[in-house]
Amino acid sequence: MSPMTDATGWNLVEIADLSREEMVSILDRAVELRHAPPAVSASSSHLVALLFSEPSTRTSLSFQVACQRLGVSFIELPAERSSLLKGETVLDTARVLEALGAGALVVRDRSDDVIRGLVHECGAGVLNAGGGTRAHPSQALLDTLVLRDEFGSLEGRSIGILGDVVHSRVARSDIAAFTAMGAKVVLIGPKEFLPDGDWPEGVRVSHDLDAILPELDAIQILRIQHERIEGGMGLSLDDYVSSYQMNGTRLASCGSHFLVLHPGPMNRGVEISDEVADGKASRILQQVAAGVPIRMALLERALGIHRGSEEIH
Ligand code: CP
Repeated sequence: MSPMTDATGWNLVEIADLSREEMVSILDRAVELRHAPPAVSASSSHLVALLFSEPSTRTSLSFQVACQRLGVSFIELPAERSSLLKGETVLDTARVLEALGAGALVVRDRSDDVIRGLVHECGAGVLNAGGGTRAHPSQALLDTLVLRDEFGSLEGRSIGILGDVVHSRVARSDIAAFTAMGAKVVLIGPKEFLPDGDWPEGVRVSHDLDAILPELDAIQILRIQHERIEGGMGLSLDDYVSSYQMNGTRLASCGSHFLVLHPGPMNRGVEISDEVADGKASRILQQVAAGVPIRMALLERALGIHRGSEEIH
């Protein structure tokens, strides 16, 4: 499937909207942009609007830094200070942002379907900054970039995704991105977070972290998404930590090239120990840094300003 494009906007709702070639093109552009000199001030007439109805640190801030680096103005509308609280719909809010001149809408929403709906109704380019449990495509692209930086290619690499997979939009987007780039993906967690079901073809499932770790080249560790769990976890936190926390002992069973990723926010002492989070194998802050050029590359497309990196100054 190609990215959904209308007269004025390029949209990214989920990784499946991109071909492998388009993914590679975005990753390559991000590498160029990573080294481009930043704009000294907002010098273009383009405007980006950020509309987040769920909390965010990394995604929101890195989209803002990406705008600054591109020389593009942005406005931010946190849902808790908006007229969404008075009953205005997300679509009507998006139309207000467009009427104010926004050429790209960066949207995080707790519903899976709202962001896809905006694509059909808005002329501005829509970038999904995390929707429901289904998709967080810019996160998956930055995760892929970090792995590609380290390994050169994901082809044939074994990448684990550990933890609360069932509630994770990052997991779904990572599965799509990593497999598209030729990696073998293993989902790891207790059956409460990894029920039998509809996992994509070719993706392995393991409930035994200790058995699978020596096979892996890297692992993406997920926090427990308590805000999406209704009626309790179904297992004790102590049991979870004992069987699934990535800690120093488990890291010692991995190869010397083994990498640790975490999309954040981390719950230290639960899914990851301090020793692992802050250790040599960790690429967690590299993930944060990679978010800026990836989001610059996405904003360029959404705004239709794909330029040579020498023009960003
Ligand atoms: N990885 C991620 O989406 O983090 P934030 O919720 O802080 O944006």
